[in-house]
Amino acid sequence: MHSKESVVIRPARNILGSLRVPGDKSISHRYAMLAALARGHSRFDNFAPGADCASTLGCVRDLGCEVERDNSGVVTIEGLGTQLQAPSKPLDCGNSGSTMRMLSGILAAQPFSSELIGDESLSRRPMKRIIEPLTEMGAKISAANGDRAPLRIDGGKLRGIEYRPTVASAQVKTSVLFAGLLAEGRTAVHEPARTRDHGELALRAFGAEVERTQHSVSIQGGQTLHPLEAFVPGDISSAAFFLCAAAIFPESNLVIDGVLLNPTRSALLDVLTAIGSRISMLRVEESHGELVGTISLVPGRGRQVTIEGALTALLIDELPVLAAIAPFTAGGLEVRDAGELRVKESDRLSAVTHNLQAMGAQVEQTENGWRIPGGQRLHGAKIESCDDHRIAMAFAIAALRAEDESVIRNAECVKISYPGFFEDLEKLVER
Ligand code: S3P
Repeated sequence: MHSKESVVIRPARNILGSLRVPGDKSISHRYAMLAALARGHSRFDNFAPGADCASTLGCVRDLGCEVERDNSGVVTIEGLGTQLQAPSKPLDCGNSGSTMRMLSGILAAQPFSSELIGDESLSRRPMKRIIEPLTEMGAKISAANGDRAPLRIDGGKLRGIEYRPTVASAQVKTSVLFAGLLAEGRTAVHEPARTRDHGELALRAFGAEVERTQHSVSIQGGQTLHPLEAFVPGDISSAAFFLCAAAIFPESNLVIDGVLLNPTRSALLDVLTAIGSRISMLRVEESHGELVGTISLVPGRGRQVTIEGALTALLIDELPVLAAIAPFTAGGLEVRDAGELRVKESDRLSAVTHNLQAMGAQVEQTENGWRIPGGQRLHGAKIESCDDHRIAMAFAIAALRAEDESVIRNAECVKISYPGFFEDLEKLVER
């Protein structure tokens, strides 16, 4: 069924069973970077297996830290504290915007220069959003057109700033907070809308004091981190694909164990509830500030849903799959304020519209979102992943409800966040 790059998806009857998903990508990046800054031995169970977090581990290694990963998903890092080493070659961030943007915050404060490079997609993505605050803090950063990778960072002593980003981005917030940890004085970030808070929680887990009010976070520079041993919760953005699949088959019953339930990441569950699903959360526990638990979902018939404003920011990675299943819901979906989707691993606004239309769907792409009526019947199609992992996985889910088979082209890109995605999907699908 798999050729090297194309995967055939046949229609399904049902989604049934239980599963654990790989460790959370956002948390894994942050733990790895902070482990480099904490002198001594850190150990992470269930570290995210995808290529993106492997890029972060590669960079941490190139900064002089010993990094090991065993076959069971355990990663160990020997942190160097303030003694990171100047890299002898450009730091390769691969496809990972998180690696480039968040690591820049750390590199800006180092007494050496570094260069950050990325693949073709990453080299098209905007970097001014981190260059501006880090420059204000005292770093010297040059970039292609002032905005694109490769970045050259001449690090040095930083001073704390008060920063008001214009885009709601957790990567930007985290980059500035990491720089703030290493700066003189206090650094505060005032967000235009609340974004995922793993940066703040990870800093605390490594022993730093971080202050928070509703839209602001601040950190005092010069704090020392201690190493951490932690279990990385399952990635809810990966679980999202299976939850959305289960939501569109009336007889489904799905349980996902050990998954992240952080409120800044779990807005998907509210949307799935609005489209009719009955969701229970069981065995909820806290681990280093992050909530983890079991989600069980049975589908139902719900209403039309509009996602806009602050909710759009919280759901940014789940929007492609929500849009991909929207034609199969009873009430359809409208998404607004999602201009950021244009500058992800691909232009996700256009990629979703294009692939939905290829399947025969009625969809209206608006300036910063879509209007997608519910109650549609779609046929199978050749899906273009645009080399974007979330587009490939979103349309693998839509394809389950199509009337005949679909082919996901360039499907290998799922390895960016979820190398075992197609195998795990097959475990849950009934035909
Ligand atoms: C991430 C933040 C989001 C998200 C990305 C991971 C993070 O990006 O799309 O997949 O870990 O902070 P932005 O901060 O650019 O919105």
